[in-house]
Amino acid sequence: MAIEKVGIIGAGQMGNGIAHVSALAKLDVRMVDTNPAQLNKALETIRNNMNRQVKRGLITQADEDAAVARIAVSQNVADIRDCDIVIEAATEKEEVKKEIMRAVSAVLKPEALIASNTSSISITRLAAATDRPQKFIGMHFMNPVPLMKLVELIRGLATDDDTFNQVRDLAEKLGKTTATSEDFPAFIVNRILLPMINEAVYTLYEGVGNVEAIDTAMRLGANHPMGPLELADFIGLDVCLAVMQVLYEGLADTKYRPCPLLVKYVEAGWYGKKAGRGFYDYSGETPIPTR
Ligand code: NAI
Repeated sequence: MAIEKVGIIGAGQMGNGIAHVSALAKLDVRMVDTNPAQLNKALETIRNNMNRQVKRGLITQADEDAAVARIAVSQNVADIRDCDIVIEAATEKEEVKKEIMRAVSAVLKPEALIASNTSSISITRLAAATDRPQKFIGMHFMNPVPLMKLVELIRGLATDDDTFNQVRDLAEKLGKTTATSEDFPAFIVNRILLPMINEAVYTLYEGVGNVEAIDTAMRLGANHPMGPLELADFIGLDVCLAVMQVLYEGLADTKYRPCPLLVKYVEAGWYGKKAGRGFYDYSGETPIPTR
């Protein structure tokens, strides 16, 4: 089966990025979100990001216009029914995702594949909430999707070879390189990255350094392109906490205990860049450290 039409569930920072690269690869895109404001914001973000690519000479204005015309948005999950693959990129909560899997299974044509962009949740468990575990896979894009080269592929227990091969080919068509992970909590990238971010939050919580010192230390001392707290804001503190909770519960080891300060920020709604405040305040022209 040729993949020509991609359904995306969730139009947040990841959903809009996946729509962006899919549409530029000449695939038709149906993007669904329960929140209409998110759909409008996603279209605006895609336009802005493609405009930047046009300015840099990476794509032409005609490429942009044709790509944007390939993206249709909707609040109704039934509008993905004739897609060849559906990629779920909704909020990182198992119950939300399972509910989406049941809704997608009820309307999607039987031969189509389903993938989840989850950062940490068991692919095998999500697969079990669909009507086609053998056609289900983890397809974990990195943020920001148009710039980041990696897609992590995660096979569930039942994922068949045909599904794996088709999704690997799709990732390559989108210009990505794949790395394959077994289905364990948070897979490879986040198993390594998120404990480091959590440790940075502990470093702040214990007063070892302030936000600026911690980020400067890791940028210049470890040669990371972004400091860990800046990166946490960029990922979304709600996503960071959700991943740490999956690691903590899934691996039952206290070394994964989410830092209480991270919990507190999420409880306050300080989710990072997307909320305008996290370890930095984004209300002005340049982000200002908050501690
Ligand atoms: P986000 O908070 O920006 O977007 C989530 C979107 O899902 C929102 O627009 C929300 O309205 C929508 N949504 C919630 N319930 C829904 C439903 N039932 N049906 C349709 N839409 C629904 O989150 P983000 O950062 O885009 O993350 C999405 C997924 O991608 C999560 O699973 C996350 O773990 C994963 N991810 C996030 C990365 C990051 O750096 N933020 C990187 C790689 C994966």
